[in-house]
Amino acid sequence: MTQPHPQAFPPRFTWGVATSSYQIEGAAHEDGRSPSIWDTFCAAPGKVKGGDNGDVACDHYHRLDGDLDLIASLGVNAYRFSVAWPRILPGGRGAVNRAGLDFYSRLVDGLLARGITPWLTLYHWDLPQVLQDAGGWPARDTALAFGEYAAIVAAELGDRVGHFITINEPWVAAYLGHGAGVHAPGHTDLAESFAASHHLLLAHGLGVRAVRAAAPGAQVGITLNLAAAYPATDREADHAAAHRQDGFANRWYLDPVFGRGYPQDTVKLLGNASPQAQELVRPGDLDIIGTPSDFLGVNMYSRSVVETAPGEGWLGVRQLRPEGSEYTGFDWEVAPQSLSDLMLRLQRDYTPRAIYITENGATYPDTVSEDGTVHDEARTRYFQQHLAALEVALAGGAKVSGYFAWSLMDNFEWAEGYDKRFGIVHVDFDTQARTLKQSGRWYRDFLTRAQQGQPA
Ligand code: FCB
Repeated sequence: MTQPHPQAFPPRFTWGVATSSYQIEGAAHEDGRSPSIWDTFCAAPGKVKGGDNGDVACDHYHRLDGDLDLIASLGVNAYRFSVAWPRILPGGRGAVNRAGLDFYSRLVDGLLARGITPWLTLYHWDLPQVLQDAGGWPARDTALAFGEYAAIVAAELGDRVGHFITINEPWVAAYLGHGAGVHAPGHTDLAESFAASHHLLLAHGLGVRAVRAAAPGAQVGITLNLAAAYPATDREADHAAAHRQDGFANRWYLDPVFGRGYPQDTVKLLGNASPQAQELVRPGDLDIIGTPSDFLGVNMYSRSVVETAPGEGWLGVRQLRPEGSEYTGFDWEVAPQSLSDLMLRLQRDYTPRAIYITENGATYPDTVSEDGTVHDEARTRYFQQHLAALEVALAGGAKVSGYFAWSLMDNFEWAEGYDKRFGIVHVDFDTQARTLKQSGRWYRDFLTRAQQGQPA
């Protein structure tokens, strides 16, 4: 197998690990935090595997200092975390909860004291339930509320945080939350999901402007989940299907963020379900969404391979599961080459100022061996293959400036509960013991060599 070369990465490359608030913090009912849509979703029977919820999660809220030491022990120079909106504004907007801000202030100070650059995500899916009750993302007001929230966080932490991500994966929040219904708030309405997508993008644009106003020196961007789409065969109809899939999953977000408005082919396919047909796109919205940002964050896990399926849903596309490929515990195809393809395509088609891989990783059913270690060879290989693919993209001219492994530690994996482990650190959810996995050891050693510019 191709191994990545530490010396192939620029010496000032950003190397990090990533997490999100609801997945690790716990302390769901403490210090003034109000419920989020994920608390509600978890409480609804049958929505989350095993009836799991984020009440305790990794208990990170109470174990902050130990976890900061753990992050430092990995040798990373950056840490990506998210702020829980319901901790900052329990009412969704209006009165600020000082205790909530204090927690993140301590987190940021703790990172800086350890020489680690904080990367702050403003929205990683834990919308205050009160805002859901007022209409949630399908309602325009939620985007405006996000702008206010972004301004508050940037004003408080922007003196120490230099990197802000507005929204994490709007496709997932919009489509899995409102179309497929497998994420909070669990609705299944295509038109609603596209209304949500427009307001999530509007929130991003308002967030960029709010962060710039409150923290002029900071860098700000969005994180999209992108998966390169390939046709199953060379038939023209399958190529067209891959283009439709790309419109739905990738271009719907990339095009407006880069100031080009929505892709017309997708608008047309959506018919009455498009935000345009619903008359939600107001004059000026596309300018706000297209506000130039400092970087593009990309979460990449796999690719999609599709064939045409006329009449199958509005998209007319069928997802295939290519034979002979390797699959992770999520049944996601391991497709490292698609990472190079994706990076080079982004560089060619969108020329972002900088690209950061803000998530990449894999879940496998890990077990702790008798020797106390987790021999997660498959995950280690996954990281090696993807970093080797990234190296190819860099050599080809893609301006990728950083990489964050998902995730620092095993955590609450949304609808899958605690069943799916993504960490490079193992968490025993009974005792909260943290154990560095073999993949974590490999990552630490690799990025230490990369930062020293030493050969493998
Ligand atoms: C991404 C999410 C992240 C995590 C990984 C596995 O879609 O951003 O929170 O769940 O998938």
